[in-house]
Amino acid sequence: NKRTKIKTLLAGEFVGQDVTVMGWVRTFRNNQFIALNDGSTNNNIQVVVALGMLDDATLKRITTGASLKITGEVVASLGKGQKVEIQAKSLEVLGDSDAEKYPLQPKKHSLEFLREIAHLRFRTNTFGAVFRIRHSLAFAVHQFFNERGFVYLHTPIITSSDAEGAGEMFRVTTLPMEGAPRKEDGGIDFGEDFFGKSTNLTVSGQLEGELGAMAFSDIYTFGPTFRAENSNTTRHLAEFWMIEPEMAFYDIEDNMNLAEEFIQYLIRYAMKHNAEDLEFLDQRLAEEEKQKPQAERSEMGLLEKLRFVVDNQFERITYTEAIDILLDSPAYKKKKFKYEVKWGIDMQSEHERYLVEKHFKKPVIVTGYPAAIKAFYMRMNEDGKTVAAMDILAPGIGEIVGGSQREERLDKLEQRMKDMHIPTEEMSWYLDTRRFGTVPHAGFGLGFERMVQFVTGMGNIRDVIPFARTPKNCEF
Ligand code: 4AD
Ligand code: MG
Repeated sequence: NKRTKIKTLLAGEFVGQDVTVMGWVRTFRNNQFIALNDGSTNNNIQVVVALGMLDDATLKRITTGASLKITGEVVASLGKGQKVEIQAKSLEVLGDSDAEKYPLQPKKHSLEFLREIAHLRFRTNTFGAVFRIRHSLAFAVHQFFNERGFVYLHTPIITSSDAEGAGEMFRVTTLPMEGAPRKEDGGIDFGEDFFGKSTNLTVSGQLEGELGAMAFSDIYTFGPTFRAENSNTTRHLAEFWMIEPEMAFYDIEDNMNLAEEFIQYLIRYAMKHNAEDLEFLDQRLAEEEKQKPQAERSEMGLLEKLRFVVDNQFERITYTEAIDILLDSPAYKKKKFKYEVKWGIDMQSEHERYLVEKHFKKPVIVTGYPAAIKAFYMRMNEDGKTVAAMDILAPGIGEIVGGSQREERLDKLEQRMKDMHIPTEEMSWYLDTRRFGTVPHAGFGLGFERMVQFVTGMGNIRDVIPFARTPKNCEF
């Protein structure tokens, strides 16, 4: 099985050599020209089948979606937009694809339609580009932290705590399958009692991450998290991936610096390693923008925006300043906001987007949120009413990062937990970090899909995760 990936072939010096390629047919013209794709790049390789080389029965089987193995000589191409093509010497149909039934015809399909056939959409140019970039960003996450000596800590999926205290959890329960042995007979019909307590899918690996940071100094998690938020928006998933670094001896300032450096690193990585795919998505987005009324079009193209974000520092403001800006805005004065603006509110996405898209026109880090709207573990500021929280807001996305310096003082943390009715006995393991060698520490969570959205310019979060889980939707 010696095969050459199409990306390698198009980048290399293969003219005059025989190669074997395998992939799926995108188009077949004039019983002669096959555009073959293997997912390594959006560029197809053109394969030329000499007249008379194949019998009619085989020619009929070369349809859009069919899989082929082709061996032939690489020759310089006269065709436009391609340097080389393959002059076929042998061709084998590996798998047929009924042209009548194959849903992906060689034409433009809407994203909504493709979402319904998510099991096949990887074979389109748009999703090919999106998921290669998603892969790259995941790789870059590990590279970034590895270069800085962070330990990748695998935190559990099944937990018995609510890290965010927001009560948006999926319960874990066992299910007696038909015909399976019952509990009495040694089966697994434990219902919700398998662990002897109520358990749920994790909403965040942070609390376990903090335990790791108290030993390794710097850790990060990168795994799936689950939230039973009933929000059907273009920014929310019930199952999403989150990256959560946690650093001992960091304060909020260090935390902000790391988060900013991290986001810029990821973007730079994609710009370097996915230039072609980004170019493609840039064009796609430009087309999409043209369909919009002038006033709604974004001022920058995708690549322009990415370059801008890596070349410029993020804006840093306090929550109190953010509220003042909103109160002072033309949008507020003209009553354009749907939700109320006053000190103490949990900013809605319309407010966040005003700040980043209209006011600052760049990513913004907001710190010092009111304690009342933030999680129990955040460090209380000297004023006694705000906490050392930081959210990063990104243009076109809104909140992309949520983080904070943690409350490392045992008495203050215990008091806060009691005030918020969080059981301190059950969370004794967590409090141990404050009992034994507590240190100032901080961390944040980057929503991976929101990051992929930002880099690819995809408007809907369902289009940057292979199989989206949202309310009323768990196909596949
Ligand atoms: O702000 P959140 O809830 O923070 C935490 O979970 C902290 N424990 C993180 C930490 O400090 N270690 O979530 C962090 C990020 C958000 O900023 C957002 O990007 C993403 O996770 N996120 C979601 N992404 C997609 N769908 C959802 N339902 C999301 N909820 C949060
Ligand atoms: Mg948040």
